[in-house]
Amino acid sequence: MAIIPPDWAFPRADSLPPYAFVTTDAAKAKVLAAGADLIDLGLGNPDRPPPAAIVDVLHAHADAAQSHRYHPGIGLLELRQAIGHWYAGRYGLTLDVDSEVVVCMGAKEGISHFCFAALSPGDVVVAPDPCYPIHAGGPRIAGAEVEPYEARADVAPADAVAAALARVTARGGRTKLVLANYPQNPTGRSVSKAELAALVRVVQRSGALLLHDLAYADLDFQARFAPSIFDCGVPADEVRAFAVEVCSLSKSYSMPGWRVGFVVGSERMVGALSHLKSYLDYGSFVPIHHAAAWALRHGDAIASELRELYRARATTLVAGLREAGWPEVVEPSSTMFVWAPLPPAWRERGSMAAVTSLIQEAHVAASPGVCFGPGGDGHVRFALIEDPPRLLEACARIGRWLAR
Ligand SMILES: Cc1ncc(COP(=O)(O)O)c(C=O)c1O
Repeated sequence: MAIIPPDWAFPRADSLPPYAFVTTDAAKAKVLAAGADLIDLGLGNPDRPPPAAIVDVLHAHADAAQSHRYHPGIGLLELRQAIGHWYAGRYGLTLDVDSEVVVCMGAKEGISHFCFAALSPGDVVVAPDPCYPIHAGGPRIAGAEVEPYEARADVAPADAVAAALARVTARGGRTKLVLANYPQNPTGRSVSKAELAALVRVVQRSGALLLHDLAYADLDFQARFAPSIFDCGVPADEVRAFAVEVCSLSKSYSMPGWRVGFVVGSERMVGALSHLKSYLDYGSFVPIHHAAAWALRHGDAIASELRELYRARATTLVAGLREAGWPEVVEPSSTMFVWAPLPPAWRERGSMAAVTSLIQEAHVAASPGVCFGPGGDGHVRFALIEDPPRLLEACARIGRWLAR
């Protein structure tokens, strides 16, 4: 039997630490194997199915013979037009759907392959810490160096990015790409249009490119539509010269398993991603594109309902955690997460130890903040993927755990 010679290293894969959301899998598997009723608030995996109207469109197109062929890698024209309609309706942006829009297999795929398309070893990327793992992982996998900036409720995003850009310049470097994400995972921080405009201006002045992840476009509890970089006060024609925005249907319409998102903006940046993708894939099953187009054109009420669902769950969980004795926890202004500072007894030991104990002792799972970067280690992230009765049961268990 042929074996792989031990000196054949796989440096790219081997250099990556375990993916954030698998780090607690062993602890979870153990309590489940012992028969425990684990309340798992770890992965931000929407629990509600998408409405039947969206699934019906998928079914209808699955029967059409031509649905089973290859189709344009940048995405079905009907879906790109629906994306153009979505942006025009909520953000007043007119997009050329042939050159400024590319459909991807979820925002995560779009971000990671954009990094592959645009970055080389030696490039410098400024990215948030803590962050959704691909924001630091995508650049690193592409060989770039990541300069983190603080993602915190009490620090203005533009100031944090400006400080990181200045650190790169001070050591003689030049930042090629800034990654930003508001509403932000994991902190649940949202931004006003003015705050986003200030960030866009800082990046524009630096000469770097900007990628803004707007995956939680519909989950801003302050504004019906979270601000877009193309509608923040900086003229859209200036922004489209150096920036793209990435959106997702996963959270807005509860379609995470469908893997559909899109990247819009700078023709050069969208073109680079489309070009790379023409080598890598032919997009996804075309009925998914038809159903996604339907959701973008007709799904506003669905997205609003989900937003209210997550807002109500956030209120329940935060009140329950406070009641249970968890100190300093505040309601998020967006997303589907509660970002809770570690209770004092756990601050020394860190978020991984705290979550492991929560799983083992309280049978409640969350995500350790350290999985989102070193800046997250003082926190635990709870995903709002259960209804209030189960969230309150989790809080009751947590109360007993805190009182031990
Ligand atoms: C900020 C952010 N971007 C992107 C994604 C992934 O989106 P998608 O399912 O479209 O890949 C997530 C998922 O949790 C996220 O939190």
